[in-house]
Amino acid sequence: MAAGKFITLEGGEGAGKSTCLPLIEEQIRKAGHSVLITREPGGTELAERIRELLLAPTDAPIHENTELLLMFAARAQHIHEKILPALETGKYVVCDRFTDATYAYQGGGRGIENSRIEVLEQWVQHNLRPDLTILFDIPVVDGLNRANRRSKPDRFEQEKLDFFERVRAAYLDIA
Ligand code: TMP
Repeated sequence: MAAGKFITLEGGEGAGKSTCLPLIEEQIRKAGHSVLITREPGGTELAERIRELLLAPTDAPIHENTELLLMFAARAQHIHEKILPALETGKYVVCDRFTDATYAYQGGGRGIENSRIEVLEQWVQHNLRPDLTILFDIPVVDGLNRANRRSKPDRFEQEKLDFFERVRAAYLDIA
């Protein structure tokens, strides 16, 4: 059986990834492939627990290195428990955010050097890279308005505007 394809969706808050996901899923199914829809941080029981730690608003500051390592801890579990087994059985894996989000948020947003993220990327992912990444781009203020309308702000969504401008710039830079 042919190996599957790994597709990732990226973008700032409220850019429309989640709205488009079911449409993308439908198109892949129509083309005759089986699909696994998943997300980061998260996608497995343990990684979803790490997601809760990362997204819950808190007064106790989380160090940027801790945040970075938790993202990759969740990713390691997700890759081995879910993504690789699905790809090996020929599935198309569509993941709502992956490592480009780390370059955008922890790199651009928090200011961690790309070279340090690259070390973890290589260490945790080996050769695994997306076959295709779709970037959803929207002006920061519009995206935040959309995101805040649908739910209470999580720990990232509580950041200031300039954080999201850096995230957007990093995404556009990668693209
Ligand atoms: P969302 O995907 O539901 O929008 O929320 C996930 C949040 O986590 C979002 O604000 C982006 C952030 N995030 C990072 O900061 N780094 C990462 O590597 C990933 C995957 C997500």
